[in-house]
Amino acid sequence: MLCEEYGFHLAQEFYWWNPSKLPSPAEWVTVRRVRVKDAINTVWWLSKTPWPKASNRRVLQPYSPSMMNLLASGYKAKRRPSGHDISNKFGQNNGAAIPPNLIAIPHTESNSYYIRYCQENNLPVHPARFPAELPEYFIRMLTDSGDIVIDPFGGSCITGEVCQRLKRHWQCIELSEEYLKGAMGRFVRGVYEKSVSDPAAESNYYRIPRPGILWNGDHGDRLPQDGGKKRPAKVYAPHKRTSGSDYSAAPISMVAKAQDRD
Ligand SMILES: C[S@@+](CC[C@H](N)C(=O)[O-])C[C@H]1O[C@@H](n2cnc3c(N)ncnc32)[C@H](O)[C@@H]1O
Repeated sequence: MLCEEYGFHLAQEFYWWNPSKLPSPAEWVTVRRVRVKDAINTVWWLSKTPWPKASNRRVLQPYSPSMMNLLASGYKAKRRPSGHDISNKFGQNNGAAIPPNLIAIPHTESNSYYIRYCQENNLPVHPARFPAELPEYFIRMLTDSGDIVIDPFGGSCITGEVCQRLKRHWQCIELSEEYLKGAMGRFVRGVYEKSVSDPAAESNYYRIPRPGILWNGDHGDRLPQDGGKKRPAKVYAPHKRTSGSDYSAAPISMVAKAQDRD
């Protein structure tokens, strides 16, 4: 509708993955076990022109270990198994990699100045806040310092806080006066800082297992014929492999990341 009726151009779709998302909707996911965890939000980058200003150089990420190996050992141009012809330029070390449109940001804020301000002033803490890195990613990629950023669904004004830090002008529009009063907590101190990330820190990375790596060829229980409509009498135990090992046998980093919680 936004494109066909209002003339916006869809520059790109992004997917924000919250690795620390609790299993939800819980009834469907953890009780009836008929859906998987809902942990992705779509972000539409819509533009008034087909050529919005942007630079992916602002959002580069470290090369993967396999790419680092390839750069170290030298890449030989050849046709890939996928059928793509990749030239020698692919083996050039540009210092960092272009990211995919999947953005992994855990939502773990639980002790911020904003939350304390709301609690101390008896104001509601906004229940659907974004992690600061989400607006920051797009503000850095798509705007320059001095530009104006408008957030029509401002909530707790995290966009405004990020803009203060990145030296953009900003306006947040919000329906609820209570949320705006709480948002004031982000600005009363006049301090806008963020610790610099360490690209070498393991905690800045997420590993995603390939699907099916715990499957042992056993087809398991019969599927619920009613699609889970009737609540199961018992809670199913996690699927065990016949070898006797279960999820605890997976590499620790794989499991620990999935178990991070808000
Ligand atoms: C998902 S929240 C935004 C959260 C925000 N990004 C943050 O991190 O705090 C969406 C907000 O939009 C507000 N909202 C919904 N409809 C609105 C409207 N028509 N005009 C202004 N705000 C609206 C809601 O009150 C809610 O606070």
